[in-house]
This record gives sequence, C-alpha cells and structure tokens, in this order.
Amino acid sequence: MSFVKRTIKCGELRRENIGQKVSLNGWVAVRRDLGGLIFIDLRDRWGIAQIVIHPEESPVLAERAKPIRSEFVMWATGTVRERESKNMKIPTGEVEVLLEDFGIINPSELPPFEILNDLDVNEELRLKYRYLDLRRPYLQEKFLIRNKLYQIVHKYFYENDFVEIETPVLMKSTPEGARDFLVPSRIHKGKFYALPQSPQIYKQILMVSGFDRYVQIVKCFRDEDLRSDRQPEFTQIDCEMSFVEQDDILTMFEGFLKLVWKDILNQDVQIPFQRMPYKEAMERYGSDKPDTRFGMEIETLNDLLTNSEFQVFSQTLADGGIIGGLKANGCGAYSRKQLDNLTEFAKKYGAKGLAYIKLNEGQISSPIAKFLSDTEMQSIIDKFDAKDGDLILIISDKWTRAYTILGALRLEIARLQGIFDAVKDKYNFLWVVDFPLFEYDEEDNRYVAMHHPFTSPKLEDLEILDENPGKARAIAHDIVLNGVEIGGGSVRIHDNAVQQKMFSLMSIGPEEAKDKFGHLLDALKYGAPPHGGIALGLDRMVMLLTGIDNIRDVIAFPKTTSGLSLMDNCPSAVDTKQLTELGVGVLQK
Ligand code: AMO
Ligand code: AMP
Repeated sequence: MSFVKRTIKCGELRRENIGQKVSLNGWVAVRRDLGGLIFIDLRDRWGIAQIVIHPEESPVLAERAKPIRSEFVMWATGTVRERESKNMKIPTGEVEVLLEDFGIINPSELPPFEILNDLDVNEELRLKYRYLDLRRPYLQEKFLIRNKLYQIVHKYFYENDFVEIETPVLMKSTPEGARDFLVPSRIHKGKFYALPQSPQIYKQILMVSGFDRYVQIVKCFRDEDLRSDRQPEFTQIDCEMSFVEQDDILTMFEGFLKLVWKDILNQDVQIPFQRMPYKEAMERYGSDKPDTRFGMEIETLNDLLTNSEFQVFSQTLADGGIIGGLKANGCGAYSRKQLDNLTEFAKKYGAKGLAYIKLNEGQISSPIAKFLSDTEMQSIIDKFDAKDGDLILIISDKWTRAYTILGALRLEIARLQGIFDAVKDKYNFLWVVDFPLFEYDEEDNRYVAMHHPFTSPKLEDLEILDENPGKARAIAHDIVLNGVEIGGGSVRIHDNAVQQKMFSLMSIGPEEAKDKFGHLLDALKYGAPPHGGIALGLDRMVMLLTGIDNIRDVIAFPKTTSGLSLMDNCPSAVDTKQLTELGVGVLQK
C-alpha cells in the first residue's frame, strides 16, 4: 500500500512553517467533529499536529474523513496556517494544517484504553497492551532520556580509554547473593548454564588479560523477590579498571555522573561527592543508603542512660546494644492513634517497642517517664534540643537493628510530614565506603561476603582478619543518590593468598572454591594487575533522572512484581518434546 511520506514531523511544526505545504505521517490522537469544523490531532514521537477540515468548503474531504478514528495510522498533506485559538501549552500550538489530501494507511481496532498522558487504568491492562501504553508521550519521554544516557556512557568511557566488551549471557552457575536463572543444556543433558547475575568474574578476567579499562551496558539476571525498584532482569553500566586505587574509581565516576546530570537535566552537581563510612551512615541515618537531603539525624543516647533503671534500656546496654532516638519536628501533638501506627510501623522492622517523649502545650508526656529520672529525661530533651511541639522517638536494641528501625522511622516521618516534597529538586550524591567485609549468616552459621567474595579487605584490617573477621572493613563503595543505591563496587583481591584466606573465613573449602570460581582463581595466578570497579544500576538512574518511583516505567517490557510478562504471557509451559530433548522433567506439585 502506498503512502505519502512525511516532509516534516508532526511535533516539529512551528510558526516559521506558516504558508508551507507539508505532508505528515502519524497516529490519530483524537478527532473532534464540531459541525462547522473537523479537527484531527495527529501524533508522532515528536509531538502533535492539529489538522483542520472545513466541511462546507471541502465536502468531499469531510465525507472521506468520516471513518477516521483514534489510533488510525494516516498520512496527511496540507498547508500550514496560523491557528485562531492558540494552545501555548504545546510547541506546535500556534499553527495548524489545513487538510488538502490524506490516506488511511492502517486502521486500528478500538484500543482498550485511551492513549493519554495522565491515564488512570490499572497497570495490568497497560502491561498486557504494552505497545499501546508505550505510545503515550509520558512513557516515551523516559525512553528518550534512557537513550541519551546510553550515548553519554559510550562517549564518556570511550574518551576515557575504556574498551566495550561483551561478556557471555550463558555462563557457569555460581550462586552467591541472589538465585541464578538456569538454562538447561540440550547437548550436555543434566547440565545447566546460568544467566549472569553480573559480569563480575569476566570483567576481572579481562583485567588479567590486559584490557586495562572495560565498560559494558549489560543485562543482569537475578531470581529474587521483586520490589518497586527491582526487576529480575535489569541493566548495569558495568566497569572495571586496572592499576587503580579506590580514589581513582570514585573520581572517574564522579566525572561521569556530573556529566550525566549536566547533559540530561542541566544540573550542576558539585564534585567530589561527600564520602561517608558505613558506620557513620548507620549511626547518623540508620541506613547504608542515607537520604542526606534533610537532617532529622539519629542520636545515640547510651551515654545518657548508663545508670538507667528502666529494664529495657539497662538490658540493652548490658548486651552491648544501643539506645538511639530521633526528633520529629512538629509532631508533638501526634494522637494516640498516630503513635500506635508508628509503633506498628517500627514493629514491621523488628522493633520490640517504641518509646516516645511528647512535648506538647507545655507538657512533657511519655510512657517511659515513670522509669526515667528527671535528669535522664531532661538530658534526652537537651540532646535533641527539643522544643514544645516536638516528638522524640526512642528505640533500644542490637546495633544494626536499632539503627535500621530508626532509619526507617526517619523516612516514615519525612513522608508523613511532607519533607520529601520540600526536597524533591535536590540531588544529593554520596559515597558510602568502608563497608564491613563480612556479614554473619545466622542460618548457615558462617560469614558471607557483604559485597562479593573477591572484594579486598582494607589493608590496615588484614591483621584482624583472623581474630575478628566481623570487624574487618572492605575497600568497597556504594554510590547513593537521595536515599537510593544507584551503584556499588570495590577494589578486588589480586593476591591469591588473600583470596584463599577469604574463602577459608567464609567456610568455603578448597574443593568448593575450585568448583565455583576455579577459573578466576587460576587467572589470578597468571599476573593479575591491581584492579577494581563498579556497576551502576542504569534503570535506577533513569528513575531518578525522570523523577519516577516505579522501575517498570523505565523498562520497555518489564515483569510484574510476581515476575510475569503479561504481554507475551511468560513464563509459560513448554511441550514435553522440548523438555525431553533437554533431558528435563517437571516435578508435579
Ligand atoms: P551490585 O549487586 O551492587 O554490584 O549491583 C550494582 C547495581 O545494580 C543495581 N541493581 C538492580 N537494579 C534493578 N533491579 C535489580 N534486581 C537490581 N539489582 C542490582 C543497583 C546496584 O547498585 N558486580 C557488582 C559490581 C562490582 O562490584 O563492580 C554488582 O553487581 O543499582
Ligand atoms: P513495657 O514496660 O515493656 O510495657 O515498655 C514500656 C514502654 O517502653 C512502652 O512504651 C514500649 O513501647 C517501650 N519499649 C519496650 N521495648 C522497647 C524497646 N526495645 N525500645 C524502645 N522502646 C521500648
């Protein structure tokens, strides 16, 4: 079927085009029949053009235009003229095209929802008809920004001598961290490939090979529970550098992020970014990814309560835990119900209780007042410099749990008090460094790597590795923006002896180490340079760049939170023949 090709894009029409004869191609956004006039809004990726027909002057054209409906694909030719009633809200709003000829290139069935920016239909329907959803300018904008980000990645890293190299999608299963997605091998029945959780091992091997600087925009796959900022397949900007120290990596990425924020948002972010040790992040913000756009910092109250007669506090102190609190400005008048809600909220994070001190209308009230001396009560109020109208929340527990609960309460209060709205235009980048090398896995009764098993301990902590592995810190770094972890990385171990020691501390025996990571361990024996790197979560960066809080809106064909793709209905059953060929059977539930 032939059609008249466009001479200009719908979204490009401007006042300068008045008087020109143009041809347009696009989708019908809406058709309005006002009797004396017919308007057709034609949409393409660049915007909307208004087309007009005068039925009295062009009765044949008007008759031919009768079948046109929303989402029909058409071409239209006409002359650009000034609009009588202008729409200054859109760039094409000063002009319109007086229709001279047109053709319907392809009709459309009635879509299940209107293609509107502020669409109010459930997400399941949108995901089922994702191709229509993606027609909405609201979503297309996100992908145009995503596309810009790809281009900046290629340019910046190319200019900085990084080499883009593709690593395999079918690899050896080395479950550590999340669960692997497995792919059965047909040729080697009973054996499986895994999809990469990240190209970590390959990129380290590329450093051994001498590529010196590697970058890849790469898909990663993790079979884990999904959330609003997590998908089972997501994209990383993955990098590795040789002959570097941590500082070199951080500096390289500060340059990159500064450029991205300038080019995409025209924002000047200050570098170097603030760097904060993990311990400080936890003690001040109750999080390893603190949102530093606002204060409301946590205070540790142990020193004020060393002789407390309140059993909950004295027991916590005897067990080596902490008593911490935060001040919620202007929440002193919170009702019983509001405080109960906060207590329930804290309990979801494992709190055994939530103590509070209310300063309201000249009164101080607190369920723990009867357990505290006047001096203790006053010292807490002084510590926070609390004034009438304020509320102090107190948690007493083990170190990590207490700070984590307080960190969650801090964010909840910020949400309730509208603080996020007040800071929404701020971009606070922060490096969190000096993470613990290990976490203790209570279930397995062993230490596991907090980042991954190839992360180097801090050199000054090498000597405490044996007697106190839980205290050793890693040369690891997370990049945090406004409370979201957008990337993480580390300096790696390039010394085989240190790597072996790490495995033994994690109770990974030589056999298991060889079986899982033998190829990396072997490679490290053949002249591994000092190296390190980082991976940024590209989808999360686009979320922050576009100011949205749902990762599905920045991925063209995302999965639901239960891992389904509603458009193509996967995962799906496969026929027995296919399974037999793969040597795979399915257990009946
Ligand atoms: P890490 O596991 O911290 O590091 O991942 C790096 C970044 O990837 C993003 N990310 C995700 N985004 C969306 N959905 C997910 N399920 C998801 N999981 C992670 C986050 C995270 O900060 N190989 C190391 C990097 C290194 O050490 O160089 C790694 O993968 O933004
Ligand atoms: P109880 O004596 O257990 O009734 O507790 C008295 C007050 O202390 C109540 O307001 C509890 O919510 C609070 N509380 C109990 N356990 C803790 C805890 N671990 N941290 C903070 N407050 C607590």
